[in-house]
Amino acid sequence: MERENFGSRFAVIMAMAGSAIGLGNIWRFPYMVGEHGGAAFIIVYVFACFLLALPIFFAEMVIGRRSRQGTFGAMEILAPGTRWKWLGLLTVFSPIIILSYYSVVGGWSVEYLFKALAFDFTGAESGEVRDFFGRFISSTWEPVVVHTVFIGMVAGIILAGVKKGIEKFTKITMPLLFFLVVAIMVYALTLPGAGAGVEYLVKPDFSKLDAGAVAAAMGQAFFSMSLGVGTILTYASYVRKDENMLVSGIGTAVSDLLFAVLAGFAVMPAVFAAGIAPGAGPGLVFETLPFIFNKMGAGIPWLSAIVAILFFLTILVAALTSAISMMEVGVAYLTEEKGMKRRSATLAVTLFAWVVGILCSLSFGSLSGIQILGNSFFDFLDKLCSNWLLPLGGLLFTLFVGWKMPSAAVRDEFTNGGRLRANVRLYPVILFLIRYLAPVGIVIVFLTNLVV
Ligand code: TRP
Repeated sequence: MERENFGSRFAVIMAMAGSAIGLGNIWRFPYMVGEHGGAAFIIVYVFACFLLALPIFFAEMVIGRRSRQGTFGAMEILAPGTRWKWLGLLTVFSPIIILSYYSVVGGWSVEYLFKALAFDFTGAESGEVRDFFGRFISSTWEPVVVHTVFIGMVAGIILAGVKKGIEKFTKITMPLLFFLVVAIMVYALTLPGAGAGVEYLVKPDFSKLDAGAVAAAMGQAFFSMSLGVGTILTYASYVRKDENMLVSGIGTAVSDLLFAVLAGFAVMPAVFAAGIAPGAGPGLVFETLPFIFNKMGAGIPWLSAIVAILFFLTILVAALTSAISMMEVGVAYLTEEKGMKRRSATLAVTLFAWVVGILCSLSFGSLSGIQILGNSFFDFLDKLCSNWLLPLGGLLFTLFVGWKMPSAAVRDEFTNGGRLRANVRLYPVILFLIRYLAPVGIVIVFLTNLVV
């Protein structure tokens, strides 16, 4: 079977940035920054991105491009008959689990986009917006319907294939996303009272920078760059042999970081301008922003409606380009390893994630009584993935590339057979990061998660 490839370097970076940039950047990053000391956290985060996340990124790229297989097949080809197949299996399942609860939140953004389009938020008071959120997520049918709409869109893009689906969609939407977030940021920065939000983001408070904050910065970096579950690995298997890994890696890391910072500057000034506590957490965007947009457009209702529409469209598109990268991992596995057609593979992954997603959605309402280790089903899956499966997968990927693969093969992939001079020069540094620094860093995340 002929294997699809991304068409150009631009397409590779857009697809990978599309996977990286998502809900993690828009609500999680600003809130983490606020909780862990503002600018001080950002400094640690930048180090975590380049010293810990980027090496995992390169490790996944080396494995994917070398084997030209999805995550399970890659282990079969590079380490046949070994226990590494369990890493392959783990990283087939974990992205599908993430997809199921991610799609629920994706569904929320569909709901909010519809509401914004219907001008439903126009004139709503802060309390009303909050009440609406609480009632909406705990209801039975509506969230399930929009979750279905969201995952249906994801399946539609995946069905169209790597080139006609993933590549085409991300090439168009990623530049649009940057434009949208910059536009909203400029609007937010001009609000009266926005200064407090800016100060919150740039004034370092080193006193809040404890071990937990450092661990949080590392976890955020992994989640945000889609690492540890084989999504980057799978995308890398569609990257042509003459592409430059250093460029796509740094390109993705920089755009992910830039987008997080831009989103921070778009969300926080608005939150402060409306006098809302920045620590509202996961609900921040959905519970507070519709009201904030209202306030901002005071006197000109259509203006606030337009900003709201643009904002929720941004979230929806960002979530879609991330969700397709999760679904592709499972689809690659079923088509390559089980000989399924792309159609049936997509259907199978979609159905599985849809059903698990429904349980997640209901865990905010009718199933909220069911607790796993003190968490609702949704929170349990989220914690299981971000605190455990992601760092575990990332650790194993770096160990695999650093210690299991022959170094000649690793060097060959990273430097395109020695042809890329800058890559040749940087290779010893990258190898050091992959072999020593990243694994040790991840073990620290593990230990801190255990203790804190
Ligand atoms: N990085 C995406 C975000 O910031 C989410 C995501 C996509 C992801 N693929 C992933 C997270 C794989 C973990 C693992 O929203």
